[in-house]
Amino acid sequence: MIGPMLAVFASAVDREDPLSGLTIDDRPEPETPSADWTTITVKAASLNHHDLWSLRGVGLNEDRLPMILGCDAAGVDEDGNEVIAHSVITDPDWHGDETLDPRRSLLSERHPGTFAEKVAVPKWNLLPKPPELSFEDAACLPTAWLTAYRMLFVRGGLAPGQTVLVQGATGGAATALTVLGSAAGIRMWVTSRSEEKRAKALELGADQAFESGARLPERVDAVMETIGEATWAHSVRSLKPGGTIVISGATTGYAPPAELNRIFFLQLSVVGSTMGTREELGRLIRLCVDKGVRPVIHTTMPLRDARQGFETMLAGETFGKIVLTAD
Ligand SMILES: NC(=O)c1ccc[n+]([C@@H]2O[C@H](COP(=O)([O-])OP(=O)(O)OC[C@H]3O[C@@H](n4cnc5c(N)ncnc54)[C@H](OP(=O)(O)O)[C@@H]3O)[C@@H](O)[C@H]2O)c1
Repeated sequence: MIGPMLAVFASAVDREDPLSGLTIDDRPEPETPSADWTTITVKAASLNHHDLWSLRGVGLNEDRLPMILGCDAAGVDEDGNEVIAHSVITDPDWHGDETLDPRRSLLSERHPGTFAEKVAVPKWNLLPKPPELSFEDAACLPTAWLTAYRMLFVRGGLAPGQTVLVQGATGGAATALTVLGSAAGIRMWVTSRSEEKRAKALELGADQAFESGARLPERVDAVMETIGEATWAHSVRSLKPGGTIVISGATTGYAPPAELNRIFFLQLSVVGSTMGTREELGRLIRLCVDKGVRPVIHTTMPLRDARQGFETMLAGETFGKIVLTAD
């Protein structure tokens, strides 16, 4: 008999009032769709902006409700091994880079997510959690941190000594970009709307922090974009000729003026990036262990208090990741 478990889920979607559909209550334990799947006991999971998009109905249709939220998880498998779950679920017949599978989904899009006591995942998606990383640290890696890793080192192809501007200083992805880029010897510049957040970004390893939209002392090799409409024009204007914008998100809107004249005249590249592969997640985990890099955690709270975490993220008041613990 599959018993009830505590879960944080979308019971409705509302574009204007996303938290109205957020429910914290019992749900049945997840079923495994095939013998290639297994169930893990979640110890920690982390909040991503993706969870707010889901509650707004972006990427989550009403016919899939109720849907347990959460893309990231670290926990214990059925044999007692400590594991990290890679969130990108491909079609069983897909081979190659998982992020390129047109039928891929993330946990919480088609299959129940990680904000619960248990989550079902394909066995292939599990990676060993090294003892050096806490469950809380490990739960930050599969989405925001993996995305940042791929943006900088795979899609951005960046090298030590180059200068990179990160739009936004405080988000899950933005803090990951700053810490990872800085660890790799890249000169990291950030923007933020708040003086206090700019000061914190400098503590994290940013070389310089600017007010959002400020003129920079020199143009940069690449810009890391996750904000979209509010920062796009500044991103395009901040690049050297031949520079690259790597974009993985558009929190403030998808349709800014494209600045096409600058893009062709200055031979700029606009490169999309989404999540990362299992192999890249493995490399990110090793980087964290070998170089002592750790995710930036704003706060940790039990699953049953998740609403408070969602409110903080909606208000734009986070500095790094919000982690939910299932114990
Ligand atoms: N494609 C993918 O695989 C992928 C993976 C991860 C994330 N994403 C996307 O990337 C975005 C960020 O995700 P996240 O989890 O890091 O979210 P988050 O923690 O909520 O991000 C907050 C960040 O957004 C900035 N921001 C918010 N509103 C802004 C505004 N009006 N003007 C300027 N800056 C603003 C903040 O900058 P301040 O410092 O100024 O407050 C802060 O750095 C989301 O849209 C998410 O869906 C995509």
